[in-house]
Amino acid sequence: MDIIKINDLVKRFPVGKGHFTAINKINLSFGKGEFAGFVGPSGSGKTTLLNIIGSLDTPSEGSTIVMDKSISELSHKQAARLRNMYIGFIFQTYNLLPVYTVFENVEFALLLQNISASERKKAVMEALEWVGLTDKVKSKPNMLSGGESQRVAIARSMVKKPEIVLADEPTANLDSKNSHHILQTMKTLNKELNVTFIFATHDEKVMKYLNRIITLEDGKVVSDKENKS
Ligand SMILES: Nc1ncnc2c1ncn2[C@@H]1O[C@H](COP(=O)(O)OP(=O)(O)OP(=O)(O)O)[C@@H](O)[C@H]1O
Ligand SMILES: [Mg+2]
Repeated sequence: MDIIKINDLVKRFPVGKGHFTAINKINLSFGKGEFAGFVGPSGSGKTTLLNIIGSLDTPSEGSTIVMDKSISELSHKQAARLRNMYIGFIFQTYNLLPVYTVFENVEFALLLQNISASERKKAVMEALEWVGLTDKVKSKPNMLSGGESQRVAIARSMVKKPEIVLADEPTANLDSKNSHHILQTMKTLNKELNVTFIFATHDEKVMKYLNRIITLEDGKVVSDKENKS
């Protein structure tokens, strides 16, 4: 069964007096447990597509169905609930909360769920262990390197063991050892808990792990291939 279905999706952004078409009639579906990624040149629409799948942005035309729910028919509150419960994001820009510590930034993803403080602590420490940051729990984002910030964002996206993780360039600031370690952790969550991962990436290291590679160019899918390496 498909966990995500995208039908005739078009996204136009207003630019000056006209508009720019960032997504140009995309049809795609993803089954539960896929480990897939969007690749393609800068500006081809990868982030735009992830944002629409994650209900952070709305399409100009077409529809997105995520976990049997048609996103455009959800109220703001229902869309927020879908995200909180089922979707983990890793943003290209991290989006960490500057006044909170590493621990609190990761814990944030769990606050809207009905979990006790001690269970939260256990889950947060486990997620920080996945990304190798247990020694930075008390640091604030401005005390972290780019790669460390990225790893906090990764921990935050996975701490609730969501149904779907949308990962925008998750390894852009990581060295090769950290990249492989994190990709292996993601793959373990994928295999053991059947978490669906969708990446946007330029990184060859990430591509090697993907089971499916979808290439975008100018807002269109130009290839969609199984990846067996
Ligand atoms: N809010 C916006 N207003 C106008 N144009 C936008 C907006 N957001 C994105 N675009 C344009 O849409 C196109 C696709 O952008 P997007 O961020 O999805 O690309 P991308 O494939 O993620 O690129 P990169 O690899 O650089 O991250 C780009 O040409 C971008 O300039
Ligand atoms: Mg992008």
